[in-house]
Amino acid sequence: MTVTTDRQRQVEDELVKTVLASFEGTPDPRLKQLMQALVRHLHAFMREVRLTEAEWQHAIDFLTAAGHITTGNRQEFILLSDVFGASMQTINMNHEATAGATEATVVGPFFVDGSPEIPLGGDMAFGAPGEPCWIEGTVTDTDGAPVPGVRLEVWEADKEGLYDVQYGDGHTAGRAHLYTDDQGSYTFWGLTPTPYPIPHDGPVGRLLEATGRSPLRASHLHFMATAPGLRTLVTHIFVEGDQLLDCDAVFGVKESLVKRFERQTAGTPTPDGRDLSGQSWSRVRFDIMLRPQPSPDRST
Ligand code: BEZ
Ligand code: FE
Repeated sequence: MTVTTDRQRQVEDELVKTVLASFEGTPDPRLKQLMQALVRHLHAFMREVRLTEAEWQHAIDFLTAAGHITTGNRQEFILLSDVFGASMQTINMNHEATAGATEATVVGPFFVDGSPEIPLGGDMAFGAPGEPCWIEGTVTDTDGAPVPGVRLEVWEADKEGLYDVQYGDGHTAGRAHLYTDDQGSYTFWGLTPTPYPIPHDGPVGRLLEATGRSPLRASHLHFMATAPGLRTLVTHIFVEGDQLLDCDAVFGVKESLVKRFERQTAGTPTPDGRDLSGQSWSRVRFDIMLRPQPSPDRST
């Protein structure tokens, strides 16, 4: 259906103008800008697609269902933002890629505060099933100086594609934190990442299904690096050669974060002499460069 008459176009234009004017007196200039731009784009979208009443109702039902499934542990609206690329676009705009600093990506819903501390070379798997992986790297600032004492939070799914919190039995595995040494270096054992789906048993999952999209995320290992005076970095590393790198459900992949996980056959000596009882393992290097904290008047 298209707009048939000038009169119709005028009626629709008038409504947009009236709604824009209703926000004219917003005291906070930023809120005013956000609301008026939202009105312009929302109405432009509705008019472009000539939204039907049934479609409008469907959208309301969808948002209602998203609200109903959302709890303290399940945030369907963030998932919705993720699958529209809105989460990644917010990150792109607020964490400009500069001066070789490590790029950021989505935090995802599975970070949990209060992870156990492990020593350098410790094992964050805590018995989670999967192939062991030796992870090592150095954290530097943008001048190239090593940063000692950086807190690294690391978390990942097991080989079944599940995070510990998804088992619902309260056990902790596949997550930990550790600190870089005097040279800014770190090492730990984790698991070779494997692909897994985002939670897809709710409205967002139905949206993906209806649009022929996969809920799978490219295999990854999450990192959060924090150090005084430096900007906190939330990121992942991805596995070179993974088939899903080009179709990650939440658009989280950045080329600079794709790393070579070198596969080691069973029996290959491990860097720290750990006995893996005949299991194969992998190793990866991830050097992290943290940016300075932004000045208080700037968001990047
Ligand atoms: C994850 O990395 O675990 C994740 C990220 C975004 C949405 C769902 C899951
Ligand atoms: Fe994840």
